Amino acid sequence: MKVLLIGSGGREHALAWKIAQSPLLEEFYAAPGNPGIADHATLVSLNVEDHAAVIAFAKEKAIDFVVIGPEAPLVAGLADDLRAAGIATFGPSKAAAQLEGSKGFTKDLCARYDIPTGAYQRFKTAEPAKQYVREQGAPIVIKADGLAAGKGVTVAMTETEALAAIDECFEGAFGAAGAEVVVEAFLDGEEASFFCLSDGNTALALATAQDHKRVGDGDTGPNTGGMGAYSPAPVMTSAMVERTMKEIIEPTISGMAKDGNPFSGVFFAGLMITAKGPELIEYNVRFGDPECQVLMMRLKSDLLPILYATATGTLDKVEAEWRDDAALTVVLASKGYPGAYDKNTPIAHIPDASEEAKVFHAGTAMKDGRLVATGGRVLNVTAFGKNVTEAQARAYALTDKVEWENGFCRRDIGWQAVAREKA
Ligand code: AMP
Ligand code: GLY
Repeated sequence: MKVLLIGSGGREHALAWKIAQSPLLEEFYAAPGNPGIADHATLVSLNVEDHAAVIAFAKEKAIDFVVIGPEAPLVAGLADDLRAAGIATFGPSKAAAQLEGSKGFTKDLCARYDIPTGAYQRFKTAEPAKQYVREQGAPIVIKADGLAAGKGVTVAMTETEALAAIDECFEGAFGAAGAEVVVEAFLDGEEASFFCLSDGNTALALATAQDHKRVGDGDTGPNTGGMGAYSPAPVMTSAMVERTMKEIIEPTISGMAKDGNPFSGVFFAGLMITAKGPELIEYNVRFGDPECQVLMMRLKSDLLPILYATATGTLDKVEAEWRDDAALTVVLASKGYPGAYDKNTPIAHIPDASEEAKVFHAGTAMKDGRLVATGGRVLNVTAFGKNVTEAQARAYALTDKVEWENGFCRRDIGWQAVAREKA
């Protein structure tokens, strides 16, 4: 099979590493890719916003299958355009990508099909939103409707904070994404990310993971794209997975199909495990980053036929097998992230991978023959262990061998699971 992978982050490096192990693979390209992905695929400098250029390249190389990593090209309809050109593609249509692209769309779907989630209202102006907040009281959650790079959500512990967040959205802090606001009930519990594939009809549960969104140790400081993750998430027992499939995932798949937007791709459900059971916080329509890195480490099966079955409506014919071990990834980021940071700082040394550990590249580039950091999140040091405690020790041992002066990481990734394992 000739494959083109779209994206350039740590998630795509993990996907590329796994796809490259497939005996089905004949030729492998990535656009735009990164220096880590270059170990597995030929990098192509395509502008992925130019769908015609992507299609032209795919035709020229007789690409059989395109895998789209990030959300932006999905929300922009790249999967639709590739499929219209007759090219099998992993990733949902623009219409189905609204599950991530519009929080209001997802909340309305939940309401129509009785999917458990926090009570909510949608607003296009500030005053009625504020009125609703005053009626409901705090804690309460304010969300910009559209894509805001994970920054459009305020979990307000006081009414004052909630009212300020509403003003912030409508005053343009998140651009067009904040033109509509969702006000949602606060859900109390433990969070988990649940990954599952759908070909439009059939669902295949993958695995669970736990992200660490805050920049600082002890879950302090501003939200980021994710500073580290581990899999599996102990809160997702097999009984909880079963309930999630039945109460959340299956009604979503059948509801999307009924509404004329069948979903093909990966569901990444952000769940809150409350006293009542699993409730949906949000959907993403792609693999999480850095959650994907730990999932790919744990996946025993060949990824390529699983992704291809998802894209071609034959998911009922495949299975996914997982290692029982835990995997944990530590994100190394540029000092200053998620605020401003220096670009093009030199990375002097990346330690070699082993059976148990691997460093994925996220925001790196080659400049004048040297490896430099170009992004906020730059490297993902990922390791296995018989439990999270062991995976954590191995990941930090390898992290300490990275030589990059401008980098930093959290030192407590996995703390909740480690505490559980000690108890
Ligand atoms: P989201 O971008 O929707 O995943 O929200 C970002 C983070 O805000 C989530 O990972 C949760 O930690 C928190 N959050 C979002 N919605 C709620 C809610 N209804 N109740 C409590 N916390 C929430
Ligand atoms: N790590 C969270 C995300 O990919 O959305």
